Amino acid sequence: MDNLKGFKRTCYAGDLKDSHIGEEVILMGWVQKKRNLGGLVFVDLRDREGMAQIVFDADVNKEAFEKAEKLGSEYVIAIKGKVFERQSKNPNMSTGDVEVFVEELRVLNSSQTPPIYIKDDDEVSEALRLKYRYLDLRKPKMQKNLMMRHKVASIVRNYLSENNFCEIETPFLVKPTPEGARDYLVPSRVNEGRFYALPQSPQLYKQLLMVSGMDRYFQIVKCFRDEDLRADRQPEFTQIDCEMSFVEEDDVMSIMEGLIKKVFKETLDKDIDLPLPRMTYADAMNKYGSDKPDTRYGLEFVNISRLVANCGFKVFSDATKPGYSVRGINVVDGAEAFTRKAISHLEDHAKTYKAKGLAWMKISEEGVTSPIAKFFSEDELNSIVKEMNAKPGDLLLFVADKDSVVFDSLGQVRIAVAEKLGLADANKFNLLWVTEFPIFEEDEENGRFVAKHHPFTSPMDEDLDKINGEDKLSLRAKAYDIVLNGYEIGGGSIRISDAEVQKKMFKALGFSDEEAYNKFGFLIDAFKFGTPPHGGIAFGMDRLVMLLAGADNIREVIAFPKNQNAVCPMTNAPSIAEDAQLKELSIKVDIQKD
Ligand code: AMO
Ligand code: AMP
Repeated sequence: MDNLKGFKRTCYAGDLKDSHIGEEVILMGWVQKKRNLGGLVFVDLRDREGMAQIVFDADVNKEAFEKAEKLGSEYVIAIKGKVFERQSKNPNMSTGDVEVFVEELRVLNSSQTPPIYIKDDDEVSEALRLKYRYLDLRKPKMQKNLMMRHKVASIVRNYLSENNFCEIETPFLVKPTPEGARDYLVPSRVNEGRFYALPQSPQLYKQLLMVSGMDRYFQIVKCFRDEDLRADRQPEFTQIDCEMSFVEEDDVMSIMEGLIKKVFKETLDKDIDLPLPRMTYADAMNKYGSDKPDTRYGLEFVNISRLVANCGFKVFSDATKPGYSVRGINVVDGAEAFTRKAISHLEDHAKTYKAKGLAWMKISEEGVTSPIAKFFSEDELNSIVKEMNAKPGDLLLFVADKDSVVFDSLGQVRIAVAEKLGLADANKFNLLWVTEFPIFEEDEENGRFVAKHHPFTSPMDEDLDKINGEDKLSLRAKAYDIVLNGYEIGGGSIRISDAEVQKKMFKALGFSDEEAYNKFGFLIDAFKFGTPPHGGIAFGMDRLVMLLAGADNIREVIAFPKNQNAVCPMTNAPSIAEDAQLKELSIKVDIQKD
């Protein structure tokens, strides 16, 4: 192998342009492709910034030409040569106007044939991509994604620093935090039988930093949650975590809007209009069945319960009691696009979200076509068509059930319809705040009330006195999420800073004083010593970068992600621990080893 002695790179291959014509350059990188045309060898040389064509001419340098003939894919080379204007320009390559005639070639390393092609959109399984992630990351798109991620991190650091936020690290070996997912536990060797948790977020520490008087904190930080994985969820993910003292909701929201505006301008050159629109949680659920609505398209819900309370279709009339409803969406001009088979697919989809069925009506000049039309009077059908704002050519879809099931299933049908009809414009970025979240939600498993955000979220002033009353589910918190194209990209709240209110909250959540103290005693104690009003937010950085990069899954913007089973296919983590390690930790594993 050759070495680099006396060779210094003059620029990236991907940065070559017209202005380099006539110059001598030294480039280094990987062989993407080689074509041997007799007396000439053409190589596409790839580095982080892109690709350039380099040419070996037997008449210019025979030795280099002969070495070039032996180059293989992914060999690592360095070349010195002169830049010329290209005869046949390649408009598909950013460096396509120029080429380099090589005077000296150094082969720095060879390569086996890689198990995956180093090109975007290579149709290979994700399992293989993750196993050879270091090769997968050589792909131009992946390199762009990682650089986008870096760019976002640096914009965030600059913006927040300019706005007096101070970056402070918080520990990873902690007492369990209150975000509500399962913890990853870490055994302590020196404290036998005891465990740390990895933080689900730095929530409690950032609040303690406000007690400490740090005023404005941020951190770009790993968080760990043992939860079911999805396209937008990883067991370890990154938050842009912020907390501020002496603020109310509007203060947090307006400074964070400024951050988002800057991120969009400096990454995609997109102008975001401020202030961002706001929608209450109740409105979001009623209109879209979701607290993270994609507002790039309509398909808004219409509640027709009132119109069908006395109709002959029992499925509908039964669903008009309190807590139940019949709601529909109007798929404008959708009657043709959705055949019976397509509607039946949608119905199956709705059923996976617990709906019992999906009723439909197609509107034409002749009237309403629907398997359930026979259950309704002419007047009832007319009033439904009117309420749904329907005209000939439209398709109406309905779910009747408990509100929570209607929201969930019809919300998912709405998304599926938009996908099929291509209603979501990929170049549009619809940001909004969802506000006035409920304080509590019911835990499906044990019927207990749990905090929807976390137990330190302040109730809205109007609802504070009712906190230990009966109607808990209607109480609202000073909590807000920021939503982008149907994804929750961040969430936060104003915190409780009054010890008495905090006590009430723990009581409402069913914690005894002792339980609360056991879990969060350090915070309760800290709050006795002069706590400023404070609040904050955390952005899911992976989700934000995913959307900026136009990816459909956060693994595309994480260098070394886990797969859907929380396994790293490259390193095979998690793995079985050595007996000696377990013994040291006093841990017995009660399952059969492979
Ligand atoms: P929350 O739990 O809403 O709030 O998390 C904040 C944001 O983090 C992102 N996120 C995730 N991203 C990828 N994988 C996951 N498993 C995952 N879980 C969450 C989401 C979410 O909006 N301490 C509070 C914030 C606060 O109150 O200031 C918190 O963690 O984009
Ligand atoms: P059935 O009378 O159960 O055969 O249902 C007649 C039509 O009503 C079918 O198209 C079902 O998909 C639909 N349907 C049944 N239950 C519901 C429901 N809870 N909400 C909406 N549509 C339903």
